[in-house]
Amino acid sequence: MKASRFYKRRRFFLLSVLFILFLCVLASINEVRFENLLRFGRLCSLSSILSNNLSQLYTSSIQDSNSSSDEVRILIGILTLPDQYPRRHFLRMIYGTQSLVGAKVDVKFVFCNLTKEDQKVLVALEIMRFDDIIILNCTENMNKGKTYAYFSSLPELFNSTADDRPYPPYHYVMKSDDDTYIRLGSLVDSLRPLPREDLYYGYVIPCESMDPFVRYMSGMGYLVSWDITEWIRESDIPKKHMEGPEDMVFGNWLKEGSRGKNRYNAKWSMYNYPDPPTKCTHELWPNTVAVHLLKNQDNWVRTLKYFNVTDNLKSSKLYHIP
Ligand SMILES: *[C@@H]1O[C@H](CO)[C@@H](O)[C@H](O)[C@H]1NC(C)=O
Ligand SMILES: *[C@@H]1O[C@H](CO)[C@@H](O)[C@H](O)[C@H]1NC(C)=O
Ligand SMILES: *[C@@H]1O[C@H](CO)[C@@H](O)[C@H](O)[C@H]1NC(C)=O
Ligand SMILES: *[C@@H]1O[C@H](CO)[C@@H](O)[C@H](O)[C@H]1NC(C)=O
Ligand SMILES: *[C@@H]1O[C@H](CO)[C@@H](O)[C@H](O)[C@H]1NC(C)=O
Ligand SMILES: *[C@@H]1O[C@H](CO)[C@@H](O)[C@H](O)[C@H]1NC(C)=O
Repeated sequence: MKASRFYKRRRFFLLSVLFILFLCVLASINEVRFENLLRFGRLCSLSSILSNNLSQLYTSSIQDSNSSSDEVRILIGILTLPDQYPRRHFLRMIYGTQSLVGAKVDVKFVFCNLTKEDQKVLVALEIMRFDDIIILNCTENMNKGKTYAYFSSLPELFNSTADDRPYPPYHYVMKSDDDTYIRLGSLVDSLRPLPREDLYYGYVIPCESMDPFVRYMSGMGYLVSWDITEWIRESDIPKKHMEGPEDMVFGNWLKEGSRGKNRYNAKWSMYNYPDPPTKCTHELWPNTVAVHLLKNQDNWVRTLKYFNVTDNLKSSKLYHIP
């Protein structure tokens, strides 16, 4: 399937180049008006650049199709509330400015049924513009099954029999909070050596513990492999236990169902923001996957500054930022 897509792409590309060449020949045979000639002239030189670099493009698309075969696919669902418009716009900037190689990370905002008239317009507009929202069939709640609704809906939401869709649609699925900052590149790097099946990854609770097999992963952001979302959908265990702190409840499902045999403790690459210090906090440091409890703008600013996220701002005469 990969190969056929690749050949289709290549055939389309070759046809396009041939077509441009054909237009160029046509243009020079017909005595077209001067400015048309000029315009085509530019096109013709474009096409010659393209054809000169054809072999190079050809190779790079082979590498593309190769790298996509071991591309890590991750879905990050940020559980939030419909009315959190400014927070979503902020997080779109945070995640939209992180670039990745060899990985596909989709960040989506997840909430339950809309309840207000204005939401029907405002959220619909957001979807039209950003298409990064999942509205689950549930009533908004923190600890009464929203997490279940999220994970158990995924197999169906992303179930596609289309030939060109890979399976699983995502190797890993994450649940995150809207006050967590995730460094996508570090997350992907930390996942590369890990199994893609029966994996439960996160910040082990309690805070002093380093043993991922004892209790559960903190709700700041935990991640499981795709097979676990399918198990959550099918098993009776989660259905019977919905209430309670969502992260603990999630851990209990896996314990009762003997799932998550592969576990990875991401402490201290995940941690709570250093201020005020507790057993769960850590100083900002380079080896960071996620920082949690970014409750206000100052916390965000200090964190973003520490990780140099605006260092690559392109220079322009349109602005000057000291
Ligand atoms: C082909 O691509 C290289 C770099 O990608 C570029 O330097 C070169 O100018 C291109 N060839 C032509 C004929 O433009
Ligand atoms: C592409 O992948 C195949 C096997 O998956 C491997 O044998 C080949 O060396 C790879 N090619 C490149 C250019 O990486
Ligand atoms: C949504 O949930 C309600 C109540 O839990 C249920 O009656 C209804 O069938 C669900 N709708 C869909 C489309 O799944
Ligand atoms: C959510 O909304 C849908 C229709 O918009 C409705 O069918 C469903 O019953 C609602 N679910 C809950 C749990 O309220
Ligand atoms: C997904 O699609 C496959 C094939 O069409 C089907 O067998 C399977 O039951 C579907 N799963 C869900 C969760 O809808
Ligand atoms: C941010 O940039 C400074 C100065 O270039 C560098 O010393 C520091 O290590 C960078 N911080 C991180 C987390 O990469």
